[in-house]
Amino acid sequence: MRTQVGIVGAGPAGLMLAHLLARQDIDSVLLETRSRKEIEETIRAGVLEQGTVDVMVESGVGARLQRDGFLHGGISLRFDGLDHRIDFPGLTGGKRVTVYAQHEVIKDLAKARLDAGRPLLFEVKDVSVYDLASDSPRIRFRQGGKVTELECDFVAGCDGTHGVCRRAIPGGVLRIFERVYPFAWYGILCEAPPSSEELVYALHERGFALVSTRSPDIQRMYLQVDPGDRVENWSDERTWSELRARLATREGWAPKEGPIFHKSVIGMRSFVAEPMHYGRLYLAGDAAHVVPPTGAKGLNLAIADVRVLAEALVAFYRSGSSEALEHYSTVALRRVWKAQRFSWWMTSMLHRFPGGDEFQYRVQLAELDYVTSSAAAAASLAENYVGLPMEHA
Ligand code: FAD
Ligand code: DHB
Repeated sequence: MRTQVGIVGAGPAGLMLAHLLARQDIDSVLLETRSRKEIEETIRAGVLEQGTVDVMVESGVGARLQRDGFLHGGISLRFDGLDHRIDFPGLTGGKRVTVYAQHEVIKDLAKARLDAGRPLLFEVKDVSVYDLASDSPRIRFRQGGKVTELECDFVAGCDGTHGVCRRAIPGGVLRIFERVYPFAWYGILCEAPPSSEELVYALHERGFALVSTRSPDIQRMYLQVDPGDRVENWSDERTWSELRARLATREGWAPKEGPIFHKSVIGMRSFVAEPMHYGRLYLAGDAAHVVPPTGAKGLNLAIADVRVLAEALVAFYRSGSSEALEHYSTVALRRVWKAQRFSWWMTSMLHRFPGGDEFQYRVQLAELDYVTSSAAAAASLAENYVGLPMEHA
Protein backbone atom coordinates (compact mmCIF):
# COMPACT_ATOMS: atom_id res chain seq x y z
CA MET A 1 0.00 0.00 0.00
CA ARG A 2 1.32 3.44 -0.95
CA THR A 3 0.26 7.03 -0.36
CA GLN A 4 1.74 10.49 -0.47
CA VAL A 5 1.12 11.47 3.16
CA GLY A 6 0.46 8.87 5.85
CA ILE A 7 -1.39 10.55 8.72
CA VAL A 8 -1.44 8.95 12.18
CA GLY A 9 -4.38 10.07 14.33
CA ALA A 10 -7.85 11.38 13.41
CA GLY A 11 -8.15 14.19 15.96
CA PRO A 12 -8.61 17.78 14.81
CA ALA A 13 -5.00 17.93 13.53
CA GLY A 14 -5.07 14.73 11.45
CA LEU A 15 -8.58 15.21 10.07
CA MET A 16 -7.97 18.83 9.07
CA LEU A 17 -4.60 18.01 7.50
CA ALA A 18 -6.18 15.21 5.44
CA HIS A 19 -8.99 17.57 4.41
CA LEU A 20 -6.69 20.44 3.36
CA LEU A 21 -4.46 18.05 1.38
CA ALA A 22 -7.44 16.43 -0.35
CA ARG A 23 -8.59 19.85 -1.53
CA GLN A 24 -5.25 20.15 -3.34
CA ASP A 25 -5.48 16.58 -4.73
CA ILE A 26 -2.74 15.26 -2.48
CA ASP A 27 -3.44 11.69 -1.39
CA SER A 28 -3.29 10.66 2.22
CA VAL A 29 -4.28 7.67 4.32
CA LEU A 30 -5.62 8.56 7.75
CA LEU A 31 -5.22 5.97 10.54
CA GLU A 32 -7.07 6.05 13.86
CA THR A 33 -6.93 3.59 16.76
CA ARG A 34 -10.41 4.40 18.08
CA SER A 35 -13.83 3.90 16.48
CA ARG A 36 -15.74 6.62 14.66
CA LYS A 37 -18.27 6.65 17.51
CA GLU A 38 -15.54 7.17 20.10
CA ILE A 39 -13.83 10.07 18.34
CA GLU A 40 -17.20 11.71 17.71
CA GLU A 41 -18.28 11.41 21.34
CA THR A 42 -15.16 12.39 23.30
CA ILE A 43 -15.87 15.60 25.18
CA ARG A 44 -13.02 18.11 25.02
CA ALA A 45 -12.54 21.75 24.10
CA GLY A 46 -15.20 24.23 23.01
CA VAL A 47 -13.77 27.62 22.03
CA LEU A 48 -12.73 28.28 18.41
CA GLU A 49 -10.59 31.25 17.46
CA GLN A 50 -11.67 33.33 14.46
CA GLY A 51 -8.74 31.88 12.47
CA THR A 52 -9.91 28.31 13.17
CA VAL A 53 -13.44 29.21 12.07
CA ASP A 54 -12.03 30.82 8.91
CA VAL A 55 -10.10 27.64 8.02
CA MET A 56 -13.26 25.55 8.51
CA VAL A 57 -15.45 27.90 6.47
CA GLU A 58 -12.95 28.58 3.67
CA SER A 59 -12.27 24.85 3.25
CA GLY A 60 -15.98 24.03 2.96
CA VAL A 61 -16.65 22.33 6.31
CA GLY A 62 -18.04 25.33 8.19
CA ALA A 63 -21.76 25.20 7.38
CA ARG A 64 -22.92 23.51 10.61
CA LEU A 65 -20.49 25.57 12.65
CA GLN A 66 -21.90 28.78 11.18
CA ARG A 67 -25.44 27.56 11.89
CA ASP A 68 -25.00 26.05 15.37
CA GLY A 69 -21.92 27.81 16.82
CA PHE A 70 -22.31 30.74 19.18
CA LEU A 71 -20.40 33.95 18.54
CA HIS A 72 -19.03 35.41 21.77
CA GLY A 73 -17.88 39.02 21.87
CA GLY A 74 -16.24 38.85 25.28
CA ILE A 75 -15.57 37.03 28.53
CA SER A 76 -16.03 38.02 32.11
CA LEU A 77 -13.19 37.90 34.64
CA ARG A 78 -14.77 37.49 38.06
CA PHE A 79 -12.83 38.18 41.26
CA ASP A 80 -13.53 39.79 44.58
CA GLY A 81 -17.23 39.14 43.92
CA LEU A 82 -17.35 41.45 40.87
CA ASP A 83 -17.51 40.90 37.11
CA HIS A 84 -15.18 42.68 34.70
CA ARG A 85 -15.94 42.27 31.01
CA ILE A 86 -13.23 41.99 28.35
CA ASP A 87 -14.80 43.29 25.14
CA PHE A 88 -13.14 41.45 22.24
CA PRO A 89 -14.44 43.36 19.18
CA GLY A 90 -13.76 46.72 20.83
CA LEU A 91 -10.21 45.74 21.77
CA THR A 92 -9.22 43.76 18.65
CA GLY A 93 -10.80 45.59 15.74
CA GLY A 94 -13.92 43.44 15.57
CA LYS A 95 -12.76 39.87 16.35
CA ARG A 96 -14.84 37.32 18.26
CA VAL A 97 -14.60 33.64 19.25
CA THR A 98 -17.10 30.89 18.46
CA VAL A 99 -18.28 28.35 21.03
CA TYR A 100 -18.66 25.04 19.16
CA ALA A 101 -17.66 21.71 20.69
CA GLN A 102 -14.52 19.91 19.50
CA HIS A 103 -16.47 16.69 18.85
CA GLU A 104 -18.74 18.62 16.47
CA VAL A 105 -15.63 19.77 14.56
CA ILE A 106 -14.58 16.10 14.46
CA LYS A 107 -18.00 15.06 13.10
CA ASP A 108 -17.85 17.71 10.35
CA LEU A 109 -14.33 16.73 9.27
CA ALA A 110 -14.91 12.95 9.45
CA LYS A 111 -18.07 13.31 7.36
CA ALA A 112 -16.24 15.39 4.72
CA ARG A 113 -13.52 12.73 4.53
CA LEU A 114 -15.86 9.77 4.26
CA ASP A 115 -18.26 11.52 1.86
CA ALA A 116 -15.29 12.19 -0.44
CA GLY A 117 -14.57 8.45 -0.40
CA ARG A 118 -11.02 8.99 0.84
CA PRO A 119 -9.35 6.54 3.22
CA LEU A 120 -9.99 6.99 6.95
CA LEU A 121 -9.34 3.70 8.73
CA PHE A 122 -10.75 3.27 12.23
CA GLU A 123 -9.78 0.80 14.96
CA VAL A 124 -6.30 0.15 13.59
CA LYS A 125 -3.94 -1.53 16.06
CA ASP A 126 -0.19 -1.89 16.66
CA VAL A 127 0.72 1.24 14.71
CA SER A 128 4.45 1.82 14.25
CA VAL A 129 6.38 4.30 12.10
CA TYR A 130 9.88 3.69 10.78
CA ASP A 131 12.47 4.52 8.09
CA LEU A 132 11.67 8.10 9.05
CA ALA A 133 15.03 9.48 7.94
CA SER A 134 14.70 7.88 4.47
CA ASP A 135 12.83 9.17 1.39
CA SER A 136 10.08 6.59 1.89
CA PRO A 137 9.06 6.43 5.54
CA ARG A 138 6.65 3.63 6.43
CA ILE A 139 3.74 2.99 8.74
CA ARG A 140 2.88 -0.55 9.80
CA PHE A 141 -0.51 -1.29 11.35
CA ARG A 142 -2.95 -4.09 11.92
CA GLN A 143 -6.65 -3.98 11.08
CA GLY A 144 -8.66 -7.05 11.94
CA GLY A 145 -6.17 -9.87 11.46
CA LYS A 146 -4.34 -8.19 8.60
CA VAL A 147 -0.99 -6.40 8.94
CA THR A 148 -0.44 -3.64 6.36
CA GLU A 149 2.71 -1.75 5.52
CA LEU A 150 2.02 1.71 4.16
CA GLU A 151 4.81 3.35 2.19
CA CYS A 152 4.66 7.14 2.22
CA ASP A 153 6.47 10.23 0.96
CA PHE A 154 5.84 11.82 4.35
CA VAL A 155 4.39 10.82 7.71
CA ALA A 156 2.32 13.29 9.75
CA GLY A 157 2.31 12.49 13.47
CA CYS A 158 -1.10 13.82 14.57
CA ASP A 159 -1.59 11.15 17.23
CA GLY A 160 -1.90 13.35 20.31
CA THR A 161 0.20 13.46 23.43
CA HIS A 162 0.25 9.67 24.06
CA GLY A 163 0.79 8.66 20.42
CA VAL A 164 3.63 6.63 18.91
CA CYS A 165 5.09 9.16 16.45
CA ARG A 166 6.94 11.49 18.81
CA ARG A 167 8.32 8.49 20.68
CA ALA A 168 9.64 6.98 17.42
CA ILE A 169 12.13 9.85 17.10
CA PRO A 170 15.59 8.70 18.23
CA GLY A 171 16.77 9.84 21.66
CA GLY A 172 18.76 13.07 21.74
CA VAL A 173 16.99 14.62 18.72
CA LEU A 174 14.19 16.40 20.58
CA ARG A 175 14.42 18.98 23.32
CA ILE A 176 11.51 18.73 25.73
CA PHE A 177 10.16 21.66 27.73
CA GLU A 178 7.59 20.84 30.39
CA ARG A 179 5.73 22.27 33.34
CA VAL A 180 3.23 20.28 35.39
CA TYR A 181 0.73 22.32 37.41
CA PRO A 182 -0.25 21.36 40.96
CA PHE A 183 -3.97 21.23 40.13
CA ALA A 184 -6.45 19.76 37.63
CA TRP A 185 -9.86 20.69 36.21
CA TYR A 186 -13.01 18.82 37.13
CA GLY A 187 -15.45 19.43 34.23
CA ILE A 188 -19.19 18.77 33.97
CA LEU A 189 -21.85 18.86 31.30
CA CYS A 190 -25.39 19.51 32.52
CA GLU A 191 -28.87 19.98 31.16
CA ALA A 192 -29.74 23.56 32.04
CA PRO A 193 -30.24 26.93 30.41
CA PRO A 194 -27.14 29.16 30.13
CA SER A 195 -26.14 30.75 33.43
CA SER A 196 -24.41 33.60 31.68
CA GLU A 197 -24.40 35.11 28.17
CA GLU A 198 -20.61 34.86 28.00
CA LEU A 199 -17.90 32.67 29.57
CA VAL A 200 -16.99 33.51 33.16
CA TYR A 201 -13.42 32.87 34.41
CA ALA A 202 -13.47 33.22 38.20
CA LEU A 203 -10.72 33.35 40.80
CA HIS A 204 -11.94 32.68 44.34
CA GLU A 205 -10.11 31.90 47.57
CA ARG A 206 -11.35 28.32 47.16
CA GLY A 207 -9.87 28.12 43.64
CA PHE A 208 -10.68 28.66 39.98
CA ALA A 209 -14.10 28.12 38.37
CA LEU A 210 -15.24 28.49 34.75
CA VAL A 211 -18.74 28.82 33.31
CA SER A 212 -18.98 27.83 29.66
CA THR A 213 -21.75 26.63 27.41
CA ARG A 214 -22.52 24.19 24.60
CA SER A 215 -26.07 25.06 23.54
CA PRO A 216 -29.22 26.70 24.90
CA ASP A 217 -29.92 23.42 26.76
CA ILE A 218 -26.44 22.10 27.64
CA GLN A 219 -23.87 23.85 29.81
CA ARG A 220 -20.19 23.17 30.53
CA MET A 221 -18.55 24.16 33.83
CA TYR A 222 -15.18 23.52 35.43
CA LEU A 223 -13.68 23.64 38.93
CA GLN A 224 -10.03 23.63 39.94
CA VAL A 225 -9.35 20.45 41.95
CA ASP A 226 -6.33 18.49 43.21
CA PRO A 227 -4.56 16.50 40.47
CA GLY A 228 -5.39 13.25 42.27
CA ASP A 229 -9.09 14.06 42.66
CA ARG A 230 -11.69 11.77 41.06
CA VAL A 231 -15.21 12.30 39.77
CA GLU A 232 -16.45 9.79 42.38
CA ASN A 233 -15.62 12.41 45.03
CA TRP A 234 -17.99 14.88 43.42
CA SER A 235 -21.66 14.23 44.06
CA ASP A 236 -24.02 16.51 42.13
CA GLU A 237 -24.86 18.27 45.37
CA ARG A 238 -21.21 18.95 46.23
CA THR A 239 -20.52 20.09 42.64
CA TRP A 240 -23.31 22.71 42.69
CA SER A 241 -22.45 23.87 46.17
CA GLU A 242 -18.80 24.44 45.16
CA LEU A 243 -19.78 26.19 41.91
CA ARG A 244 -22.15 28.45 43.87
CA ALA A 245 -19.42 29.28 46.40
CA ARG A 246 -16.66 30.05 43.92
CA LEU A 247 -18.87 31.94 41.48
CA ALA A 248 -20.85 34.03 43.99
CA THR A 249 -20.94 37.76 43.31
CA ARG A 250 -21.91 40.63 45.56
CA GLU A 251 -25.12 40.76 43.54
CA GLY A 252 -26.02 37.18 44.45
CA TRP A 253 -25.19 35.41 41.15
CA ALA A 254 -25.76 31.65 41.14
CA PRO A 255 -25.47 29.09 38.34
CA LYS A 256 -28.66 27.68 36.83
CA GLU A 257 -28.68 24.05 37.96
CA GLY A 258 -29.83 20.93 36.15
CA PRO A 259 -29.05 17.21 35.82
CA ILE A 260 -25.32 16.54 35.37
CA PHE A 261 -24.70 13.87 32.70
CA HIS A 262 -20.92 13.97 32.24
CA LYS A 263 -18.03 14.39 34.69
CA SER A 264 -14.28 14.21 34.04
CA VAL A 265 -10.98 15.30 35.61
CA ILE A 266 -8.37 16.81 33.26
CA GLY A 267 -4.68 17.14 34.22
CA MET A 268 -2.89 20.40 33.50
CA ARG A 269 0.54 20.75 31.95
CA SER A 270 2.56 22.75 29.47
CA PHE A 271 4.72 20.70 27.10
CA VAL A 272 6.70 21.43 23.93
CA ALA A 273 8.92 19.10 21.88
CA GLU A 274 11.41 20.81 19.55
CA PRO A 275 11.86 20.57 16.63
CA MET A 276 8.48 19.43 15.33
CA HIS A 277 10.00 17.12 12.75
CA TYR A 278 12.56 14.39 12.24
CA GLY A 279 13.53 13.28 8.74
CA ARG A 280 10.23 12.92 6.87
CA LEU A 281 8.10 12.74 10.03
CA TYR A 282 6.26 15.96 10.88
CA LEU A 283 4.51 16.36 14.24
CA ALA A 284 1.38 18.51 14.62
CA GLY A 285 -1.02 19.37 17.45
CA ASP A 286 -0.86 17.64 20.83
CA ALA A 287 1.75 15.17 19.49
CA ALA A 288 4.22 18.07 19.66
CA HIS A 289 2.83 20.33 22.36
CA VAL A 290 0.23 20.52 25.13
CA VAL A 291 -1.18 23.62 26.80
CA PRO A 292 -3.15 23.87 30.05
CA PRO A 293 -6.79 24.50 29.05
CA THR A 294 -7.22 27.93 30.68
CA GLY A 295 -6.54 29.85 27.45
CA ALA A 296 -8.69 27.46 25.31
CA LYS A 297 -5.80 27.09 22.87
CA GLY A 298 -5.19 23.31 22.37
CA LEU A 299 -7.56 22.66 19.47
CA ASN A 300 -6.77 26.00 17.85
CA LEU A 301 -3.03 25.31 17.89
CA ALA A 302 -3.61 21.92 16.26
CA ILE A 303 -5.48 23.60 13.39
CA ALA A 304 -2.85 26.35 13.05
CA ASP A 305 -0.06 23.72 12.83
CA VAL A 306 -1.68 21.69 10.08
CA ARG A 307 -2.53 24.77 8.09
CA VAL A 308 1.19 25.57 7.89
CA LEU A 309 2.09 21.92 7.29
CA ALA A 310 -0.49 21.56 4.50
CA GLU A 311 0.85 24.68 2.77
CA ALA A 312 4.41 23.35 3.00
CA LEU A 313 3.40 19.93 1.60
CA VAL A 314 1.44 21.57 -1.24
CA ALA A 315 4.53 23.70 -2.04
CA PHE A 316 6.63 20.52 -2.14
CA TYR A 317 4.28 18.71 -4.54
CA ARG A 318 3.80 21.80 -6.75
CA SER A 319 7.43 22.91 -7.03
CA GLY A 320 9.55 20.03 -5.77
CA SER A 321 11.10 22.41 -3.25
CA SER A 322 11.30 21.31 0.38
CA GLU A 323 12.17 24.78 1.62
CA ALA A 324 8.77 25.41 3.25
CA LEU A 325 8.87 21.97 4.89
CA GLU A 326 12.29 22.80 6.32
CA HIS A 327 10.81 25.91 7.91
CA TYR A 328 7.65 24.22 9.19
CA SER A 329 8.90 23.62 12.72
CA THR A 330 10.33 27.12 13.15
CA VAL A 331 7.18 28.78 11.78
CA ALA A 332 4.80 26.63 13.86
CA LEU A 333 6.84 26.94 17.07
CA ARG A 334 6.74 30.75 17.05
CA ARG A 335 2.96 30.60 17.40
CA VAL A 336 3.08 27.59 19.73
CA TRP A 337 5.33 29.41 22.21
CA LYS A 338 3.13 32.51 22.21
CA ALA A 339 0.11 30.32 22.94
CA GLN A 340 2.13 28.54 25.63
CA ARG A 341 2.95 31.88 27.21
CA PHE A 342 -0.69 32.98 27.14
CA SER A 343 -1.99 29.68 28.54
CA TRP A 344 0.64 29.65 31.29
CA TRP A 345 -0.15 33.28 32.16
CA MET A 346 -3.95 32.76 32.28
CA THR A 347 -3.42 29.62 34.36
CA SER A 348 -1.04 31.37 36.79
CA MET A 349 -3.33 34.35 37.19
CA LEU A 350 -6.55 32.42 37.74
CA HIS A 351 -5.70 29.44 40.01
CA ARG A 352 -4.94 29.07 43.70
CA PHE A 353 -1.51 27.50 44.06
CA PRO A 354 -1.41 24.91 46.86
CA GLY A 355 1.22 26.10 49.33
CA GLY A 356 1.27 29.50 47.60
CA ASP A 357 1.46 32.29 50.15
CA GLU A 358 -0.83 35.30 50.56
CA PHE A 359 1.70 37.46 48.72
CA GLN A 360 1.27 35.39 45.56
CA TYR A 361 -2.51 35.54 45.86
CA ARG A 362 -2.44 39.35 46.29
CA VAL A 363 -0.23 39.67 43.19
CA GLN A 364 -2.75 37.55 41.22
CA LEU A 365 -5.60 39.81 42.34
CA ALA A 366 -3.55 42.89 41.43
CA GLU A 367 -2.88 41.38 38.00
CA LEU A 368 -6.61 40.80 37.47
CA ASP A 369 -7.31 44.35 38.63
CA TYR A 370 -4.68 45.63 36.18
CA VAL A 371 -5.90 43.54 33.24
CA THR A 372 -9.47 44.73 33.77
CA SER A 373 -8.67 48.40 34.33
CA SER A 374 -5.91 49.07 31.79
CA ALA A 375 -7.00 49.27 28.14
CA ALA A 376 -3.50 48.16 27.06
CA ALA A 377 -3.52 45.08 29.30
CA ALA A 378 -7.12 44.18 28.38
CA ALA A 379 -6.24 44.49 24.68
CA SER A 380 -3.31 42.12 25.17
CA LEU A 381 -5.56 39.49 26.77
CA ALA A 382 -8.22 39.98 24.08
CA GLU A 383 -5.87 39.67 21.09
CA ASN A 384 -4.39 36.46 22.47
CA TYR A 385 -7.77 34.98 23.39
CA VAL A 386 -9.34 35.59 19.96
CA GLY A 387 -6.13 34.19 18.45
CA LEU A 388 -2.88 35.64 17.16
CA PRO A 389 -2.55 35.70 13.36
CA MET A 390 -2.06 32.32 11.71
CA GLU A 391 1.43 31.94 10.25
CA HIS A 392 2.17 30.91 6.68
CA ALA A 393 4.64 28.27 5.54
P1 FAD B 1 -6.02 14.58 19.65
O1 FAD B 1 -7.32 15.29 19.68
O2 FAD B 1 -5.51 13.98 20.91
O3 FAD B 1 -6.12 13.46 18.52
C1 FAD B 1 -5.18 12.43 18.38
C2 FAD B 1 -5.87 11.23 17.78
O4 FAD B 1 -4.89 10.24 17.52
C3 FAD B 1 -6.87 10.60 18.73
O5 FAD B 1 -8.10 10.43 18.08
C4 FAD B 1 -6.22 9.27 19.11
O6 FAD B 1 -7.17 8.25 19.34
C5 FAD B 1 -5.37 8.98 17.91
N1 FAD B 1 -4.21 8.12 18.17
C6 FAD B 1 -3.42 8.06 19.26
N2 FAD B 1 -2.45 7.15 19.10
C7 FAD B 1 -2.61 6.62 17.87
C8 FAD B 1 -1.92 5.64 17.13
N3 FAD B 1 -0.84 5.03 17.63
N4 FAD B 1 -2.35 5.33 15.90
C9 FAD B 1 -3.43 5.96 15.37
N5 FAD B 1 -4.14 6.90 16.03
C10 FAD B 1 -3.74 7.24 17.26
N6 FAD B 1 -8.33 22.15 24.98
C11 FAD B 1 -8.97 23.27 25.19
O7 FAD B 1 -8.62 24.26 24.57
N7 FAD B 1 -10.04 23.32 26.09
C12 FAD B 1 -10.47 22.22 26.75
O8 FAD B 1 -11.42 22.28 27.51
C13 FAD B 1 -9.81 21.03 26.55
N8 FAD B 1 -10.21 19.91 27.18
C14 FAD B 1 -9.50 18.76 26.99
C15 FAD B 1 -9.89 17.63 27.67
C16 FAD B 1 -9.16 16.44 27.52
C17 FAD B 1 -9.57 15.20 28.29
C18 FAD B 1 -8.04 16.43 26.67
C19 FAD B 1 -7.20 15.16 26.52
C20 FAD B 1 -7.68 17.57 25.97
C21 FAD B 1 -8.40 18.74 26.12
N9 FAD B 1 -8.06 19.90 25.43
C22 FAD B 1 -8.73 21.03 25.64
C23 FAD B 1 -7.02 19.93 24.45
C24 FAD B 1 -7.55 19.74 23.03
O9 FAD B 1 -8.67 18.91 23.05
C25 FAD B 1 -6.41 19.18 22.22
O10 FAD B 1 -5.38 20.18 22.18
C26 FAD B 1 -6.79 18.77 20.79
O11 FAD B 1 -7.62 17.64 20.84
C27 FAD B 1 -5.52 18.45 19.98
O12 FAD B 1 -5.85 17.84 18.78
P2 FAD B 1 -4.90 16.76 18.12
O13 FAD B 1 -5.57 16.38 16.86
O14 FAD B 1 -3.53 17.26 18.10
O15 FAD B 1 -4.86 15.54 19.14
C1 DHB C 1 -13.97 25.63 27.48
C2 DHB C 1 -12.74 25.08 27.70
C3 DHB C 1 -11.68 25.90 28.01
O1 DHB C 1 -10.46 25.39 28.21
C4 DHB C 1 -11.86 27.27 28.12
O2 DHB C 1 -10.80 28.06 28.44
C5 DHB C 1 -13.08 27.81 27.88
C6 DHB C 1 -14.15 26.97 27.56
C7 DHB C 1 -15.10 24.72 27.16
O3 DHB C 1 -14.91 23.52 27.19
O4 DHB C 1 -16.20 25.24 26.89
